[in-house]
Amino acid sequence: MPKKKSAPPSASGTPSSHNITSLSHEARVFKPAPEFSTAAHVKSLAAYRKLYDESIQHPDKFWSRVAKEELVWFSPFKKVLQWKEPVAKWFIGGRLNLAYNCLDRWLNTPVANKAAIIWEGEPNADGRPGEERTLTYRQLHREVCRFANVLKRHGIEKGDRVLIYLPMVPEAAIAMLACARIGAVHSVVFGGFSAQSVADRVADSGARMIITADGGYRRGATVQLKRNVDDALALKDSDGNQIAASVKSVIVLRRCCNDIHMKEARDVWWHRELEYVTPDCPAAKLDSEAPLFILYTSGSTGKPKGIFHTTAGYLLGAKLTTRLVFDLKPDDVYWCTADVGWVTGHSYVVYGPLANGGTSLMYEGAPNWPEPDRFWRIVEKYGVSILYTAPTAIRAFMKWGDEWPGKHNLKSLRLLGSVGEPINPEAWMWYHNVIGGGRCPIVDTWWQTETGAIMITPLPGAIPTKPGSATLPFFGILPEVVDDKGVEVPRNTGGKLVIRKPWPSMLRGVWGDPVRFKQTYWSEVQHSYFTGDGCRQDQDGYFWIVGRIDDVLNVAGHRIGTAEVESALVSHPSVAEAAVVGRPDELKGQALVAFVILKSGVVAKHELREELRQHVGKEIGPVAKPDDIRFAEALPKTRSGKIMRRLLKQVASGLEIKGDTTTLEDYNVLAKLAQTSE
Ligand code: PRX
Repeated sequence: MPKKKSAPPSASGTPSSHNITSLSHEARVFKPAPEFSTAAHVKSLAAYRKLYDESIQHPDKFWSRVAKEELVWFSPFKKVLQWKEPVAKWFIGGRLNLAYNCLDRWLNTPVANKAAIIWEGEPNADGRPGEERTLTYRQLHREVCRFANVLKRHGIEKGDRVLIYLPMVPEAAIAMLACARIGAVHSVVFGGFSAQSVADRVADSGARMIITADGGYRRGATVQLKRNVDDALALKDSDGNQIAASVKSVIVLRRCCNDIHMKEARDVWWHRELEYVTPDCPAAKLDSEAPLFILYTSGSTGKPKGIFHTTAGYLLGAKLTTRLVFDLKPDDVYWCTADVGWVTGHSYVVYGPLANGGTSLMYEGAPNWPEPDRFWRIVEKYGVSILYTAPTAIRAFMKWGDEWPGKHNLKSLRLLGSVGEPINPEAWMWYHNVIGGGRCPIVDTWWQTETGAIMITPLPGAIPTKPGSATLPFFGILPEVVDDKGVEVPRNTGGKLVIRKPWPSMLRGVWGDPVRFKQTYWSEVQHSYFTGDGCRQDQDGYFWIVGRIDDVLNVAGHRIGTAEVESALVSHPSVAEAAVVGRPDELKGQALVAFVILKSGVVAKHELREELRQHVGKEIGPVAKPDDIRFAEALPKTRSGKIMRRLLKQVASGLEIKGDTTTLEDYNVLAKLAQTSE
């Protein structure tokens, strides 16, 4: 890694460029309110700078101190970092347990009887309010220990993989923590993913067990999770072999659905299993680098890749960022609206808040069911003080109208967060004024499944914000915007966002595929982690994330690889070829547009469009269904046969075709494509 003398973001600016008064676009800068700063964990820009500079210039000293202060260790680590690009090992020789750090450490403190998780289920279809449950730290500890014993009873041991496919219920957190307690590696699969996706993830991770529920609620309907698991376990590959053959047992949570088929000797009920176990389960003393979880995420090629994280570094990142970015205090009721099936749910619904002894609110349902004031009703009911959600949701709330939040008292809110996609300044301002009453700082947090924890973000008492910018890097993070050769570009120039130094919560690899790990993240720009995002730094050093620059789309905050959707489309018997691109969408940020070439003899009927959308839903999950399917006669290709996506994007967005088309094989294709929208 190249050595930096002084730490960015001041790298190419003068030291005074971080002085508040020198910030440009003064009119759009929001300075922290003095009363917020006085009480905040990090109280000033100068305090942030001092710690940031230390974290970059003396990372060993910084991380050693922070890791000792923040985490409870069974055995101390001997060395902070061993870095052999691209393999990082943090806190070498240390032993700890993540569940212990989230639960046991609070047992003999006043936190023990505080709410760890407040949960509300979706209201029932007939309008009755949703169920409510509160688990104190003591209760959660007990449930986690009991369920960890259930895992052991089924032969799950340290290092075994366990797939979790549950709705947003406290048992999802209990299952994750139970795995962490005994050193099993969890892989949570979002409940909206298909049977095929479950089978593929089992096959890739070699999971021995699936933890699921009979079903969950979504917008008044039930999602048949167990049925999907049955389908997943029945799927065969092209040679007739069972895809998910490694699964030996399935634990099923009783929640909502009847007619569940329980396969003898494989399927057992969660509540029955608890009858056989005690609540005593010592926390395993695990190595700092013990694998903790695998989370599958889309890339620009092939099937989703299993990003894996390990214990100490991940926990430290999740804990420290939760406390400092959200300024978490003992009295806060903190609500991150993400599903535990995404990394945001891992770090900021479960692990980060619990490691800080915080109160984390979990909600099962959708923001607009039964009515568009669901979120605001919950904020008022529980006195939520910190709300962390996605720009797509914020834009939807804007569209539904101010009257919905206007019905509720939102005065308990004191901090707002945004994550998952760029937030447009209009949405930022609406969030600030209508939801935050003009008094709540907004933290626009940039990070990824791979980074484990927040990377670029305001610290709310310290860093002035600008609507649309994720502002400055978190401690220990050295981002840079570079050109194709890996050279830092001047301010206000677009480029690729890279991270120049390893950080504790970084991914440790792609499960089972070190070559793909190196190729995807460590080959694009020499000696740097490549994020896949485009970015610009302004004259004040603030980072403005533009979005993905690889073939990954961000649809409503969900990462979707175009290659994955294309291969789902061509697996349909009517499709010969497909190309998928994004087009801007007012609500979702990006929408998926598929150009489809049908096999000869197949007629391009309107019903086929819906059939193809359903097919993609079945192959991947509803989140990946194309918004728009256009039948085309041919795709624009270069003479070497490469699809010219740039042109397709322009066609999909209804733009005039610009730029170089000289390498286009058949110019007529363009004219025909322009007519594909019917
Ligand atoms: O493109 C960036 C976008 O989401 C991608 C990461 O997606 P995922 O791994 O699913 O994690 C989402 C939650 C952390 C990034 O490469 N992204 C995430 N946060 C922001 C963002 N884009 C702009 N601003 C953000 N705050």
